[in-house]
Amino acid sequence: MNNIEVRYYTQTGNSKKLADAIAKELGVTSKSIDEPVNGNVDIMFLANSVYWAGVDKHVKQFLRENSDKIGELVNVSTAALIESTYEQMKKLTGDLGIKLSDKEFHCRGSFTALHAGHPNAADLAAVCKFAKNICK
Ligand SMILES: Cc1cc2nc3c(=O)[nH]c(=O)nc-3n(C[C@H](O)[C@H](O)[C@H](O)COP(=O)(O)O)c2cc1C
Repeated sequence: MNNIEVRYYTQTGNSKKLADAIAKELGVTSKSIDEPVNGNVDIMFLANSVYWAGVDKHVKQFLRENSDKIGELVNVSTAALIESTYEQMKKLTGDLGIKLSDKEFHCRGSFTALHAGHPNAADLAAVCKFAKNICK
């Protein structure tokens, strides 16, 4: 039985929406990256986004501090313009020696007048299906 965690960093709520949906699907509780990681985690879903073209420094710090506890990281992201944070996460996790799943989830996230309502119900259904497939 894998030890699974669902973590998120959010500024406007979109990443938390995805994390909450995944957590519910998997029967766990989502946690902010502000909460400490206790013990080793086999699979960590990390819902994150991009702000002014970069992954937030709190996310980078979280990965630095917990690199030895994460068995495999699964990137889950929203953004308004870019296609995914995957490439940035690949660089970050590569530098830290964290295994990053080659499977990822991305959808649009609302930002000012762009993508109103996203992640929407269809996005949440899709991320649940994605998470179930990762954990099966
Ligand atoms: C301060 C700020 C800067 C952003 N910069 C970008 C950006 O450079 N490129 C992009 O694609 N989206 C950008 N976005 C859009 C966010 O990535 C998108 O709204 C995301 O869903 C926010 O996730 P959150 O609600 O979990 O914080 C920005 C959003 C904010 C609030």
